[in-house]
Amino acid sequence: MSRTQRTLVILGASGDLTARLLLPGLGQFLASRTGLDLQLIGVGGEEMTDAAWRRRVTASFKAGGVDPANLSGVVKQSNYLHADATDPEALQKVLDSAKYPPAIYFALPPAVTELVCASLQKVKLPAGTLLALEKPFGTDLKSAVKLNRLLTTLVPERQIHRIDHFLGKSTVLNLLGLRFANRIFEESWNATNIERVDISYDETLGLEGRAGYYDHAGALVDMIQSHLLQVLAVVAMEPPSTVHADDLRGAMAQVLRATHVWQNKPNEWSRRARYTAGTIDRRALGAYAKEPGVDPARQTETLAEITFAVDNWRWAGVPFTLRSGKALDGVNKGIAITFKAVPHLPTGLVGPPEPSQLRIALDPDLVELDVNMNGAGDPFVLDTARLSSSFGPGALGAYGEVIEGIIDSDPTLSVRGDVAEECWRIVGPVLAAWRKDAVPLENYRAGSHGPSSWKQRP
Ligand code: BG6
Repeated sequence: MSRTQRTLVILGASGDLTARLLLPGLGQFLASRTGLDLQLIGVGGEEMTDAAWRRRVTASFKAGGVDPANLSGVVKQSNYLHADATDPEALQKVLDSAKYPPAIYFALPPAVTELVCASLQKVKLPAGTLLALEKPFGTDLKSAVKLNRLLTTLVPERQIHRIDHFLGKSTVLNLLGLRFANRIFEESWNATNIERVDISYDETLGLEGRAGYYDHAGALVDMIQSHLLQVLAVVAMEPPSTVHADDLRGAMAQVLRATHVWQNKPNEWSRRARYTAGTIDRRALGAYAKEPGVDPARQTETLAEITFAVDNWRWAGVPFTLRSGKALDGVNKGIAITFKAVPHLPTGLVGPPEPSQLRIALDPDLVELDVNMNGAGDPFVLDTARLSSSFGPGALGAYGEVIEGIIDSDPTLSVRGDVAEECWRIVGPVLAAWRKDAVPLENYRAGSHGPSSWKQRP
Protein backbone atom coordinates (compact mmCIF):
# COMPACT_ATOMS: atom_id res chain seq x y z
CA MET A 1 0.00 0.00 0.00
CA SER A 2 1.30 3.46 -0.82
CA ARG A 3 2.17 5.78 2.05
CA THR A 4 -0.03 8.74 2.94
CA GLN A 5 1.88 12.00 3.03
CA ARG A 6 0.43 15.14 4.53
CA THR A 7 1.57 18.42 6.08
CA LEU A 8 -0.73 19.60 8.85
CA VAL A 9 -0.58 23.37 9.27
CA ILE A 10 -2.34 24.55 12.40
CA LEU A 11 -3.31 28.23 12.38
CA GLY A 12 -3.96 29.36 15.94
CA ALA A 13 -1.33 26.91 17.18
CA SER A 14 -0.61 28.85 20.36
CA GLY A 15 -4.28 28.78 21.39
CA ASP A 16 -6.13 26.74 23.94
CA LEU A 17 -8.03 24.59 21.42
CA THR A 18 -4.81 23.38 19.83
CA ALA A 19 -3.24 22.32 23.12
CA ARG A 20 -6.36 20.92 24.77
CA LEU A 21 -8.12 19.12 21.94
CA LEU A 22 -6.38 19.19 18.59
CA LEU A 23 -2.90 17.96 19.49
CA PRO A 24 -4.12 15.24 21.88
CA GLY A 25 -6.42 14.01 19.08
CA LEU A 26 -3.55 14.16 16.60
CA GLY A 27 -1.37 12.10 18.98
CA GLN A 28 -4.06 9.42 19.31
CA PHE A 29 -4.49 9.27 15.57
CA LEU A 30 -0.73 9.08 14.89
CA ALA A 31 -0.30 6.30 17.46
CA SER A 32 -2.98 4.27 15.67
CA ARG A 33 -1.57 4.70 12.19
CA THR A 34 1.31 3.27 10.19
CA GLY A 35 2.30 4.14 6.65
CA LEU A 36 1.97 7.87 7.21
CA ASP A 37 4.49 10.66 6.75
CA LEU A 38 3.23 13.67 8.65
CA GLN A 39 4.86 17.06 8.88
CA LEU A 40 3.41 19.30 11.58
CA ILE A 41 3.68 23.10 11.36
CA GLY A 42 2.26 25.37 14.03
CA VAL A 43 1.47 28.99 13.19
CA GLY A 44 0.45 31.40 15.91
CA GLY A 45 0.38 34.96 17.14
CA GLU A 46 2.38 34.15 20.26
CA GLU A 47 6.20 34.23 20.11
CA MET A 48 7.49 30.71 20.67
CA THR A 49 10.70 28.88 19.80
CA ASP A 50 10.60 25.57 17.96
CA ALA A 51 11.83 23.90 21.14
CA ALA A 52 8.98 25.37 23.22
CA TRP A 53 6.47 24.35 20.55
CA ARG A 54 7.82 20.80 20.51
CA ARG A 55 7.51 20.65 24.30
CA ARG A 56 3.93 21.79 23.98
CA VAL A 57 3.20 19.16 21.33
CA THR A 58 4.80 16.46 23.50
CA ALA A 59 2.75 17.49 26.54
CA SER A 60 -0.46 17.43 24.52
CA PHE A 61 0.32 14.01 23.06
CA LYS A 62 0.85 12.79 26.62
CA ALA A 63 -2.45 14.36 27.70
CA GLY A 64 -4.16 12.41 24.91
CA GLY A 65 -2.96 9.20 26.53
CA VAL A 66 -0.18 8.30 24.09
CA ASP A 67 3.51 7.81 24.76
CA PRO A 68 5.21 10.75 23.01
CA ALA A 69 8.42 8.69 22.73
CA ASN A 70 6.70 6.70 19.96
CA LEU A 71 5.94 9.89 18.05
CA SER A 72 9.29 11.57 18.49
CA GLY A 73 9.91 11.56 14.72
CA VAL A 74 6.90 13.83 14.13
CA VAL A 75 7.78 16.05 17.09
CA LYS A 76 11.44 16.50 16.11
CA GLN A 77 10.56 17.61 12.60
CA SER A 78 7.78 19.91 13.69
CA ASN A 79 8.26 23.63 13.75
CA TYR A 80 6.53 26.79 14.80
CA LEU A 81 6.16 30.05 12.94
CA HIS A 82 5.26 33.25 14.67
CA ALA A 83 3.17 34.90 11.99
CA ASP A 84 0.03 36.84 11.26
CA ALA A 85 -2.10 34.30 9.44
CA THR A 86 -4.14 37.05 7.78
CA ASP A 87 -1.04 38.22 5.89
CA PRO A 88 -0.86 36.57 2.41
CA GLU A 89 2.94 36.78 2.32
CA ALA A 90 3.28 35.00 5.65
CA LEU A 91 0.81 32.35 4.49
CA GLN A 92 2.74 31.83 1.27
CA LYS A 93 5.93 31.33 3.25
CA VAL A 94 4.24 28.75 5.49
CA LEU A 95 2.82 26.84 2.53
CA ASP A 96 6.15 26.96 0.70
CA SER A 97 7.68 25.13 3.65
CA ALA A 98 5.15 22.27 3.38
CA LYS A 99 6.87 19.09 2.20
CA TYR A 100 3.59 17.32 1.42
CA PRO A 101 0.06 18.37 0.35
CA PRO A 102 -1.08 20.61 3.19
CA ALA A 103 -4.16 20.44 5.37
CA ILE A 104 -4.68 23.89 6.84
CA TYR A 105 -6.49 23.72 10.16
CA PHE A 106 -8.13 26.97 11.23
CA ALA A 107 -8.17 26.82 15.05
CA LEU A 108 -9.28 30.45 14.97
CA PRO A 109 -12.36 32.55 15.79
CA PRO A 110 -14.82 32.86 12.85
CA ALA A 111 -13.99 36.51 12.11
CA VAL A 112 -10.25 35.75 11.81
CA THR A 113 -10.99 32.62 9.76
CA GLU A 114 -12.85 34.78 7.24
CA LEU A 115 -9.90 37.17 6.95
CA VAL A 116 -7.42 34.32 6.49
CA CYS A 117 -9.60 32.76 3.77
CA ALA A 118 -9.71 36.08 1.95
CA SER A 119 -5.90 36.24 2.17
CA LEU A 120 -5.61 32.68 0.84
CA GLN A 121 -7.08 33.98 -2.43
CA LYS A 122 -3.80 35.82 -2.92
CA VAL A 123 -1.71 32.75 -2.21
CA LYS A 124 -0.66 29.93 -4.53
CA LEU A 125 -2.19 26.87 -2.92
CA PRO A 126 -0.33 23.60 -3.50
CA ALA A 127 -2.31 20.86 -5.30
CA GLY A 128 -4.47 18.79 -2.95
CA THR A 129 -4.67 21.48 -0.24
CA LEU A 130 -7.35 20.71 2.34
CA LEU A 131 -9.05 23.28 4.55
CA ALA A 132 -10.33 22.35 8.01
CA LEU A 133 -12.44 24.93 9.83
CA GLU A 134 -13.52 24.90 13.46
CA LYS A 135 -17.05 25.77 14.45
CA PRO A 136 -18.87 28.09 14.60
CA PHE A 137 -18.91 28.28 10.82
CA GLY A 138 -19.72 31.97 10.29
CA THR A 139 -21.79 33.97 12.72
CA ASP A 140 -25.16 33.79 10.97
CA LEU A 141 -26.70 32.51 7.73
CA LYS A 142 -25.45 35.45 5.68
CA SER A 143 -21.85 35.12 6.82
CA ALA A 144 -21.91 31.33 6.40
CA VAL A 145 -23.12 31.72 2.80
CA LYS A 146 -20.38 34.28 2.17
CA LEU A 147 -17.71 32.08 3.72
CA ASN A 148 -18.86 29.07 1.70
CA ARG A 149 -18.64 31.09 -1.51
CA LEU A 150 -15.16 32.20 -0.60
CA LEU A 151 -14.00 28.70 0.28
CA THR A 152 -15.14 27.18 -2.97
CA THR A 153 -13.04 29.71 -4.86
CA LEU A 154 -10.06 28.16 -3.07
CA VAL A 155 -10.63 24.38 -3.20
CA PRO A 156 -13.46 21.99 -4.16
CA GLU A 157 -16.12 21.19 -1.53
CA ARG A 158 -14.74 17.69 -0.89
CA GLN A 159 -11.50 19.27 0.28
CA ILE A 160 -13.27 21.42 2.87
CA HIS A 161 -13.69 19.94 6.34
CA ARG A 162 -16.07 21.89 8.55
CA ILE A 163 -15.27 20.40 11.89
CA ASP A 164 -17.93 19.28 14.32
CA HIS A 165 -16.26 16.99 16.81
CA PHE A 166 -19.63 15.58 17.92
CA LEU A 167 -19.64 13.69 14.60
CA GLY A 168 -16.45 12.00 15.80
CA LYS A 169 -17.90 10.96 19.14
CA SER A 170 -18.05 7.19 19.26
CA THR A 171 -21.59 7.17 20.65
CA VAL A 172 -22.90 9.34 17.86
CA LEU A 173 -21.28 6.91 15.42
CA ASN A 174 -22.68 3.97 17.39
CA LEU A 175 -26.14 5.33 16.67
CA LEU A 176 -25.66 4.18 13.11
CA GLY A 177 -25.18 0.58 14.23
CA LEU A 178 -27.96 0.72 16.77
CA ARG A 179 -30.45 2.16 14.30
CA PHE A 180 -29.52 0.39 11.11
CA ALA A 181 -28.35 -3.03 12.26
CA ASN A 182 -31.41 -3.86 14.39
CA ARG A 183 -34.93 -4.34 13.07
CA ILE A 184 -36.21 -3.91 16.60
CA PHE A 185 -35.35 -0.21 16.62
CA GLU A 186 -35.48 0.96 13.02
CA GLU A 187 -38.93 -0.58 12.44
CA SER A 188 -40.38 1.50 15.24
CA TRP A 189 -38.30 4.63 14.58
CA ASN A 190 -41.16 6.88 13.47
CA ALA A 191 -44.12 9.02 14.48
CA THR A 192 -46.39 5.99 14.75
CA ASN A 193 -44.38 4.71 17.70
CA ILE A 194 -42.39 7.61 19.07
CA GLU A 195 -43.87 10.34 21.23
CA ARG A 196 -40.92 12.68 21.54
CA VAL A 197 -37.15 12.95 21.15
CA ASP A 198 -34.93 14.89 23.56
CA ILE A 199 -31.31 15.62 22.81
CA SER A 200 -29.53 17.22 25.75
CA TYR A 201 -26.00 18.15 26.66
CA ASP A 202 -26.02 19.59 30.18
CA GLU A 203 -22.47 20.31 31.27
CA THR A 204 -21.11 20.88 34.75
CA LEU A 205 -18.37 23.10 33.28
CA GLY A 206 -18.80 26.83 33.65
CA LEU A 207 -17.25 29.46 31.43
CA GLU A 208 -13.67 28.23 32.00
CA GLY A 209 -12.15 31.57 31.03
CA ARG A 210 -13.67 31.55 27.54
CA ALA A 211 -15.61 34.82 27.81
CA GLY A 212 -13.93 36.27 24.71
CA TYR A 213 -15.62 33.64 22.57
CA TYR A 214 -18.58 32.40 24.61
CA ASP A 215 -20.06 35.75 25.60
CA HIS A 216 -20.62 36.43 21.88
CA ALA A 217 -21.86 32.92 21.08
CA GLY A 218 -23.98 31.67 24.01
CA ALA A 219 -25.36 28.19 24.47
CA LEU A 220 -27.55 28.27 21.37
CA VAL A 221 -24.74 28.97 18.91
CA ASP A 222 -22.07 27.10 20.86
CA MET A 223 -23.98 23.84 21.10
CA ILE A 224 -27.42 23.70 19.44
CA GLN A 225 -26.69 25.40 16.11
CA SER A 226 -23.73 23.09 15.61
CA HIS A 227 -23.32 19.90 17.63
CA LEU A 228 -26.86 19.07 18.64
CA LEU A 229 -28.40 19.66 15.21
CA GLN A 230 -25.81 17.24 13.82
CA VAL A 231 -26.91 14.68 16.40
CA LEU A 232 -30.56 15.35 15.47
CA ALA A 233 -29.66 14.65 11.86
CA VAL A 234 -28.12 11.27 12.72
CA VAL A 235 -31.11 10.35 14.91
CA ALA A 236 -33.74 11.42 12.39
CA MET A 237 -32.23 10.77 8.94
CA GLU A 238 -33.49 8.13 6.52
CA PRO A 239 -31.32 5.01 6.30
CA PRO A 240 -28.45 5.80 3.92
CA SER A 241 -27.42 3.10 1.50
CA THR A 242 -23.78 3.43 2.58
CA VAL A 243 -22.01 5.30 5.35
CA HIS A 244 -19.70 6.97 2.89
CA ALA A 245 -19.47 10.73 2.62
CA ASP A 246 -22.01 11.38 -0.14
CA ASP A 247 -24.74 9.09 1.17
CA LEU A 248 -24.38 9.85 4.85
CA ARG A 249 -24.06 13.60 4.43
CA GLY A 250 -26.84 13.60 1.84
CA ALA A 251 -29.21 11.87 4.28
CA MET A 252 -28.27 14.30 7.05
CA ALA A 253 -28.77 17.30 4.77
CA GLN A 254 -32.17 16.04 3.67
CA VAL A 255 -33.56 15.72 7.17
CA LEU A 256 -32.15 19.07 8.27
CA ARG A 257 -33.88 20.72 5.32
CA ALA A 258 -37.17 19.45 6.79
CA THR A 259 -36.36 20.81 10.28
CA HIS A 260 -37.72 24.05 11.71
CA VAL A 261 -38.84 25.51 15.02
CA TRP A 262 -41.97 23.78 16.32
CA GLN A 263 -45.10 25.43 14.87
CA ASN A 264 -42.73 28.13 13.54
CA LYS A 265 -43.26 29.92 16.86
CA PRO A 266 -39.82 30.74 18.27
CA ASN A 267 -41.23 32.88 21.09
CA GLU A 268 -43.17 29.94 22.45
CA TRP A 269 -40.83 27.05 21.68
CA SER A 270 -37.50 28.38 22.83
CA ARG A 271 -36.22 29.13 26.33
CA ARG A 272 -33.04 30.70 27.60
CA ALA A 273 -31.42 31.22 30.96
CA ARG A 274 -28.17 32.26 32.62
CA TYR A 275 -26.53 30.82 35.71
CA THR A 276 -26.19 32.64 38.99
CA ALA A 277 -23.69 31.71 41.71
CA GLY A 278 -23.88 28.17 43.05
CA THR A 279 -21.97 25.01 43.85
CA ILE A 280 -21.05 22.16 41.51
CA ASP A 281 -19.36 19.06 42.84
CA ARG A 282 -18.57 21.01 46.00
CA ARG A 283 -16.88 23.69 43.89
CA ALA A 284 -18.25 27.21 44.31
CA LEU A 285 -18.95 28.94 41.03
CA GLY A 286 -19.61 32.68 40.70
CA ALA A 287 -22.46 34.11 38.65
CA TYR A 288 -21.89 34.12 34.87
CA ALA A 289 -22.69 37.83 34.69
CA LYS A 290 -19.77 38.58 37.02
CA GLU A 291 -17.16 36.47 35.19
CA PRO A 292 -14.19 38.48 33.88
CA GLY A 293 -14.74 39.50 30.29
CA VAL A 294 -18.51 39.06 30.40
CA ASP A 295 -20.72 42.01 29.50
CA PRO A 296 -24.00 41.31 31.33
CA ALA A 297 -25.83 43.72 29.03
CA ARG A 298 -25.15 41.34 26.16
CA GLN A 299 -27.72 39.03 27.77
CA THR A 300 -25.80 35.91 26.78
CA GLU A 301 -27.58 32.71 27.71
CA THR A 302 -25.71 29.82 29.28
CA LEU A 303 -28.65 27.44 28.86
CA ALA A 304 -30.74 27.17 25.72
CA GLU A 305 -33.62 24.92 24.78
CA ILE A 306 -35.50 24.79 21.49
CA THR A 307 -38.19 22.42 20.25
CA PHE A 308 -38.06 21.54 16.56
CA ALA A 309 -40.34 19.78 14.11
CA VAL A 310 -39.11 17.56 11.31
CA ASP A 311 -41.65 17.93 8.54
CA ASN A 312 -41.68 14.60 6.79
CA TRP A 313 -43.73 11.42 6.75
CA ARG A 314 -41.58 9.67 9.33
CA TRP A 315 -41.59 12.39 11.96
CA ALA A 316 -44.80 14.41 11.48
CA GLY A 317 -46.03 15.56 14.89
CA VAL A 318 -42.97 14.39 16.89
CA PRO A 319 -41.26 17.17 18.86
CA PHE A 320 -37.45 17.15 18.99
CA THR A 321 -36.30 19.18 21.98
CA LEU A 322 -32.62 20.19 21.98
CA ARG A 323 -31.12 21.65 25.10
CA SER A 324 -27.66 22.46 26.31
CA GLY A 325 -26.17 24.54 29.04
CA LYS A 326 -23.25 25.17 31.33
CA ALA A 327 -22.91 24.96 35.12
CA LEU A 328 -25.73 22.46 35.40
CA ASP A 329 -25.95 19.26 37.43
CA GLY A 330 -24.62 17.39 34.37
CA VAL A 331 -27.06 14.51 34.71
CA ASN A 332 -28.64 14.98 31.33
CA LYS A 333 -26.25 14.24 28.45
CA GLY A 334 -27.62 12.22 25.61
CA ILE A 335 -30.56 11.26 23.46
CA ALA A 336 -33.86 10.11 24.94
CA ILE A 337 -36.40 8.48 22.62
CA THR A 338 -39.75 8.24 24.38
CA PHE A 339 -42.15 5.74 22.84
CA LYS A 340 -45.90 6.19 22.76
CA ALA A 341 -48.09 4.33 25.18
CA VAL A 342 -49.53 1.05 23.82
CA PRO A 343 -52.88 1.52 22.04
CA HIS A 344 -54.63 -0.76 24.53
CA LEU A 345 -53.46 -2.17 27.81
CA PRO A 346 -55.36 -5.36 28.61
CA THR A 347 -57.84 -4.63 31.36
CA GLY A 348 -56.60 -6.10 34.59
CA LEU A 349 -52.95 -5.18 34.06
CA VAL A 350 -52.06 -2.32 36.32
CA GLY A 351 -49.69 0.28 34.92
CA PRO A 352 -47.44 0.74 33.06
CA PRO A 353 -45.82 3.42 35.20
CA GLU A 354 -43.99 5.17 32.33
CA PRO A 355 -43.90 4.85 28.54
CA SER A 356 -40.91 2.83 27.29
CA GLN A 357 -37.83 4.93 26.70
CA LEU A 358 -34.55 4.35 24.90
CA ARG A 359 -31.68 6.48 26.13
CA ILE A 360 -28.33 6.82 24.48
CA ALA A 361 -26.07 8.56 26.94
CA LEU A 362 -23.13 10.61 25.74
CA ASP A 363 -20.40 10.53 28.34
CA PRO A 364 -20.43 8.04 29.93
CA ASP A 365 -21.38 6.20 26.74
CA LEU A 366 -24.30 4.00 27.56
CA VAL A 367 -27.45 2.64 26.01
CA GLU A 368 -30.44 2.01 28.25
CA LEU A 369 -33.87 0.71 27.37
CA ASP A 370 -36.67 1.01 29.90
CA VAL A 371 -39.35 -1.57 29.25
CA ASN A 372 -42.54 -2.29 31.12
CA MET A 373 -42.75 -5.80 32.51
CA ASN A 374 -44.71 -7.70 35.06
CA GLY A 375 -42.99 -6.77 38.25
CA ALA A 376 -42.09 -8.76 41.30
CA GLY A 377 -44.92 -9.64 43.66
CA ASP A 378 -48.35 -9.25 42.11
CA PRO A 379 -47.92 -10.52 38.50
CA PHE A 380 -50.65 -8.18 37.22
CA VAL A 381 -48.91 -5.05 38.40
CA LEU A 382 -46.44 -3.71 35.86
CA ASP A 383 -43.02 -2.42 36.65
CA THR A 384 -40.23 -0.82 34.62
CA ALA A 385 -37.09 -2.86 33.97
CA ARG A 386 -33.90 -1.29 32.63
CA LEU A 387 -31.81 -3.12 30.05
CA SER A 388 -28.48 -1.42 29.81
CA SER A 389 -25.10 -1.79 28.18
CA SER A 390 -22.13 0.51 27.78
CA PHE A 391 -20.87 1.26 24.29
CA GLY A 392 -17.31 0.24 23.74
CA PRO A 393 -15.03 3.27 23.71
CA GLY A 394 -13.81 4.34 20.29
CA ALA A 395 -10.16 3.61 19.54
CA LEU A 396 -9.78 7.33 18.92
CA GLY A 397 -11.33 10.23 20.79
CA ALA A 398 -13.66 12.59 18.90
CA TYR A 399 -10.81 14.85 17.72
CA GLY A 400 -8.75 11.80 16.74
CA GLU A 401 -11.61 10.68 14.47
CA VAL A 402 -11.95 14.15 13.00
CA ILE A 403 -8.20 14.40 12.32
CA GLU A 404 -8.15 10.98 10.71
CA GLY A 405 -10.80 12.23 8.27
CA ILE A 406 -8.69 15.28 7.43
CA ILE A 407 -5.41 13.43 6.94
CA ASP A 408 -7.13 10.77 4.82
CA SER A 409 -9.06 13.45 2.92
CA ASP A 410 -12.34 11.74 3.78
CA PRO A 411 -15.06 14.32 4.55
CA THR A 412 -17.60 11.77 5.92
CA LEU A 413 -17.43 13.16 9.47
CA SER A 414 -17.34 16.81 8.53
CA VAL A 415 -20.20 19.20 7.90
CA ARG A 416 -21.08 19.83 4.26
CA GLY A 417 -21.41 23.46 3.12
CA ASP A 418 -25.16 23.41 2.57
CA VAL A 419 -25.67 21.79 5.99
CA ALA A 420 -23.68 24.51 7.75
CA GLU A 421 -26.00 27.06 6.14
CA GLU A 422 -29.09 24.99 6.91
CA CYS A 423 -28.24 24.92 10.63
CA TRP A 424 -28.13 28.72 10.70
CA ARG A 425 -31.42 28.84 8.80
CA ILE A 426 -33.00 26.51 11.39
CA VAL A 427 -32.00 28.57 14.47
CA GLY A 428 -32.35 31.98 12.75
CA PRO A 429 -35.93 32.70 13.94
CA VAL A 430 -34.94 31.95 17.55
CA LEU A 431 -31.88 34.20 17.41
CA ALA A 432 -34.06 36.98 15.99
CA ALA A 433 -36.70 36.52 18.72
CA TRP A 434 -34.05 36.59 21.43
CA ARG A 435 -32.44 39.69 19.98
CA LYS A 436 -35.84 41.41 20.22
CA ASP A 437 -36.14 40.20 23.81
CA ALA A 438 -39.33 38.35 22.91
CA VAL A 439 -38.21 35.46 25.13
CA PRO A 440 -37.24 36.30 28.71
CA LEU A 441 -33.73 35.50 29.92
CA GLU A 442 -34.29 33.50 33.08
CA ASN A 443 -31.91 32.54 35.87
CA TYR A 444 -30.82 29.23 37.37
CA ARG A 445 -28.49 28.43 40.20
CA ALA A 446 -25.14 26.94 39.14
CA GLY A 447 -25.23 23.23 39.93
CA SER A 448 -29.00 22.97 39.54
CA HIS A 449 -30.98 21.32 36.75
CA GLY A 450 -31.98 24.69 35.25
CA PRO A 451 -34.67 27.24 36.16
CA SER A 452 -37.05 25.69 38.66
CA SER A 453 -40.02 26.94 36.62
CA TRP A 454 -39.01 24.90 33.55
CA LYS A 455 -41.15 21.84 33.15
CA GLN A 456 -40.54 19.25 30.48
CA ARG A 457 -42.07 20.22 27.15
CA PRO A 458 -44.36 19.93 25.25
C1 BG6 B 1 -17.35 22.66 22.33
C2 BG6 B 1 -18.02 23.84 22.97
O1 BG6 B 1 -17.49 22.72 20.94
O2 BG6 B 1 -17.95 21.47 22.83
C3 BG6 B 1 -17.84 23.78 24.48
O3 BG6 B 1 -17.43 25.06 22.47
C4 BG6 B 1 -18.37 22.47 25.01
O4 BG6 B 1 -18.50 24.86 25.10
C5 BG6 B 1 -17.79 21.29 24.24
O5 BG6 B 1 -17.99 22.38 26.37
C6 BG6 B 1 -18.48 19.99 24.63
O6 BG6 B 1 -17.89 18.91 24.00
P1 BG6 B 1 -17.04 17.84 24.83
O7 BG6 B 1 -16.72 16.78 23.83
O8 BG6 B 1 -15.83 18.56 25.35
O9 BG6 B 1 -17.92 17.37 25.95
